[in-house]
Amino acid sequence: MCGTAVSQSVAMNRATEPEVTFRPLEERDFPILSAWFAEPHVRRFYQKTSVTLAEVAAEYGPCVRAEEPGICHFAIIAGTPFAYLQCYRNADYPEWGRLIGVDGGISVDLFIGDPAYLRKGLGRAALSGYLKRIAFPFFSTEARAYIAHERLNTAALRCSRAAGFLPLRGFREDGAEMVLLAMKRGSEERRST
Ligand SMILES: CC(C)(COP(=O)(O)OP(=O)(O)OC[C@H]1O[C@@H](n2cnc3c(N)ncnc32)[C@H](O)[C@@H]1OP(=O)(O)O)[C@@H](O)C(=O)NCCC(=O)NCCS
Repeated sequence: MCGTAVSQSVAMNRATEPEVTFRPLEERDFPILSAWFAEPHVRRFYQKTSVTLAEVAAEYGPCVRAEEPGICHFAIIAGTPFAYLQCYRNADYPEWGRLIGVDGGISVDLFIGDPAYLRKGLGRAALSGYLKRIAFPFFSTEARAYIAHERLNTAALRCSRAAGFLPLRGFREDGAEMVLLAMKRGSEERRST
């Protein structure tokens, strides 16, 4: 469910890892979110059509105002936001749940906004830290997390594998061949502190 919208401050720390923190998305973040959606690496797999600031505000406003059940956050390093992550209960989005063949658990979407932050281990650190410190605690009764990527999205598939997800099955979304990956609550423990 990348590219559609669906909240705590946190730190992750491991000697070999960058310290990533998270904060809920706010309305003041919409301009930077809009700028990120125009980045070629985000347009390729996450947000395939161009979006205006007004469209971003309309799409992500309900999550910011907690008018819908999902959560949405910025990941931050050294005081600078570098990535967006969102999480939602599959049961709250039945059309999505039917598409991936799942009726429980949570799903996560993410992207790194500023290309200067790509390929530095931050995607893996953000994803595992988000699951451990934000998503699983927030959805405290859910035992499994899912993430879906296009089969061609090697970076995302490797990032999710590195964060503890395992491939489950393929499916099709809007004509694209997708891979559904899953992890059990606790699997992310081995990946972050
Ligand atoms: C997917 C994404 C978050 C990965 O973030 P990242 O910080 O660059 O990834 P990391 O540096 O943490 O690397 C994690 C793994 O992915 C691999 N990887 C990252 N970018 C890669 C690329 N372009 N090609 C091949 N492998 C890549 C790394 O080598 C590493 O693999 P390893 O652990 O097996 O050594 C980032 O590429 C992105 O935001 N892409 C656009 C949005 C997107 O596709 N989101 C997913 C859809 S929900």
